[in-house]
Amino acid sequence: MTDAALTPLTPEQSEIQRMARDFARNELAPHAAAWDRDSYFEPTLTPRLGALGFLGMLLPEAYDGLGLDALTYLLALEEIAAADASAAVLMSVHNSLPTQMILRFGSEAQRERWLPPMARGELLGAFALSEPDAGSDAAALRTQAVRDGDHWVLTGTKAWVTNGNHAGVIVAMARTDTPELRRGGRGISAFIVTPDLPGFAVGKKENKLGLRASPTVQLNFDQLRVPADRLLGEEGQGFVYAMQSLEHGRLGIAAQAVGIARRALELATAYASERKQFGTPIHDFQAIQFKLADMATKVTAARAVLHAAAAMKDRGESPGAYASMAKLLASEAAMWVTTQAIQIYGGYGYTTEFDVERLFRDAKVTEIYEGTSEIQRIVIARSLTHR
Ligand code: CAA
Repeated sequence: MTDAALTPLTPEQSEIQRMARDFARNELAPHAAAWDRDSYFEPTLTPRLGALGFLGMLLPEAYDGLGLDALTYLLALEEIAAADASAAVLMSVHNSLPTQMILRFGSEAQRERWLPPMARGELLGAFALSEPDAGSDAAALRTQAVRDGDHWVLTGTKAWVTNGNHAGVIVAMARTDTPELRRGGRGISAFIVTPDLPGFAVGKKENKLGLRASPTVQLNFDQLRVPADRLLGEEGQGFVYAMQSLEHGRLGIAAQAVGIARRALELATAYASERKQFGTPIHDFQAIQFKLADMATKVTAARAVLHAAAAMKDRGESPGAYASMAKLLASEAAMWVTTQAIQIYGGYGYTTEFDVERLFRDAKVTEIYEGTSEIQRIVIARSLTHR
């Protein structure tokens, strides 16, 4: 019951969920601990996910995607996250941010050029918004784009870019206003950047607490020359596009958090039945039963809100602050549930021998990236007064 959706799934949704579960259990779970230990990015992951259709889940079939609804995508993502949260963030960022931005805001020529190879897993996508000094205050980013004939010339450093060192397509936000006339969020544009462009360099790779198999890098743009036809959508709209896309991205991170939390619950439940103290499995103690009950309740509640927000999206409505609520609930549930799982394992849970330790480390970032829990609360609080 730990993985049950509360609403009935269609046969197609169940089939995709089963495919994702089989792939996760057979191809990811056996390697996840070693990849984490070695901070190893498995290069065949992208083509293998692409071959399954999992890198074009939300793209129309015309662009080689599967054309699925958001709920089906999130069900698959939960399965991948339950086995390997690092693989899940690859899938989430790629499906939610660069591909969606090109689909929604790109020209037909841009869609035709970039989306099919992204859907097939031939080009991995990345999203470059944050900078060393612009995280929560994303509109304060400083990377500058200046028009030069039929190019834009970008200079600056992007930070916290998931898969930035393996990406074939990076949707990067840069300022197109001038230092003399700053226009806040309205002075930012989105560009399709590729690593072959002159002036592109991968910078520092972060050494992280969790998601160690998912590379996070800085990107340095030194007079990066981007052809003018790589401007995405309208000049000055890049921040709005990024915010709209992050609503979708946050649903993906919520699914990742639900997957992490669910796995911790499954492991802790099994361990409590096996581990004996005072002559009986610790599951017989009410202190442990109550912990497991609270863990299951939080996982189920987070998943229910996430699926409700996904259903809004599938009805064509913008989930808005509900996406933030789903991410807030799921990420805080993941952190709490993984903490309890370690407590149930006791000293063993504190060692790298057991997966709950990795799940605990992986959970933490879900409270930070794609908007911290504090930012989600700001978005939610604003929605209470602005609507
Ligand atoms: N949809 C449409 N438009 C939106 C919007 C949305 N969801 N959010 C904001 N906008 C528009 C606003 O309407 C506003 O438009 P006007 O200029 O016409 O008024 C404009 O964008 C600026 O918006 P705000 O005034 O609200 O901007 P702000 O500076 O106050 O910031 C914020 C709002 C919510 C704090 C925002 O900066 C934010 O979400 N910060 C967190 C950033 C974030 O999540 N970063 C994650 C990076 S990705 C990552 O983690 C790495 C990875 O690879 C996983």
